[in-house]
Amino acid sequence: MARTIPGKDGYMNPDDIRAAVRADNIHYPKTTLLCMENTHNSAGGIALTPEQMKSNYDVAKEYGLGVHLDGARIFNAAVALKVDVKKLAQYTDTIQLCLSKGLSAPVGSLVVGPKDVMDRARKYRKMLGGGMRQAGIIAAPGLIALTKMPKRLEEDHKNAKLLAAGLSKLGIKVVNDVQTNMVYVDFSPIGWTAEDWNKACADMGWKSRGYGTGTRLVTHYGIEEEDIKGFLDGIAKKI
Ligand SMILES: Cc1ncc(COP(=O)(O)O)c(C=O)c1O
Repeated sequence: MARTIPGKDGYMNPDDIRAAVRADNIHYPKTTLLCMENTHNSAGGIALTPEQMKSNYDVAKEYGLGVHLDGARIFNAAVALKVDVKKLAQYTDTIQLCLSKGLSAPVGSLVVGPKDVMDRARKYRKMLGGGMRQAGIIAAPGLIALTKMPKRLEEDHKNAKLLAAGLSKLGIKVVNDVQTNMVYVDFSPIGWTAEDWNKACADMGWKSRGYGTGTRLVTHYGIEEEDIKGFLDGIAKKI
């Protein structure tokens, strides 16, 4: 029975975590696990610092809880904070991380944690039909994702900042603090709807799916500084 805890910029206040731990009562499910996310997607790709993670981890341990990290974008966090990924990983018991997304493998995620927990996870995966034979061929790009791709994430972060600055100059509102590779925009200040945005992008040969009056833009491998500049020039001409 998951309970959500409000956060600010993806960070949960330790007192809110304490308040969410259920009392020992036969009518309630027992609280056993705290989950964090780093970087935090819907907060705008914000990176939680090791100190922030520690403060949440310590509360969990006060109550004897396990800690799991949704680290789909953990390498983006490590690069943005200029810390070794191990610095972040020390404040969780298990992590899920994506080899796809910024690390650019065509497919794949890892669950990482202590051997006994991973043995149980493997068993559950099998019970749920998630086992895969001959997985080596799709695991191979995962090795490149882990060994070569983290180094270049800084480029994505720079390009996202360039994109955000350029869009702001054009009067499009950038909603988030751009720390990593995500730019959340609201184009209502220029009077555009999602339809206008989608059409403008499609005319320029870009696929983008606006919804309501905004969208999320993500920079990644294969998108170069020149592409960002070209995109911004194209949007400027459409406004
Ligand atoms: C924050 C976050 N966590 C977890 C996932 C799950 O990733 P996957 O299904 O590739 O393992 C995603 C995928 O979009 C994500 O954005």
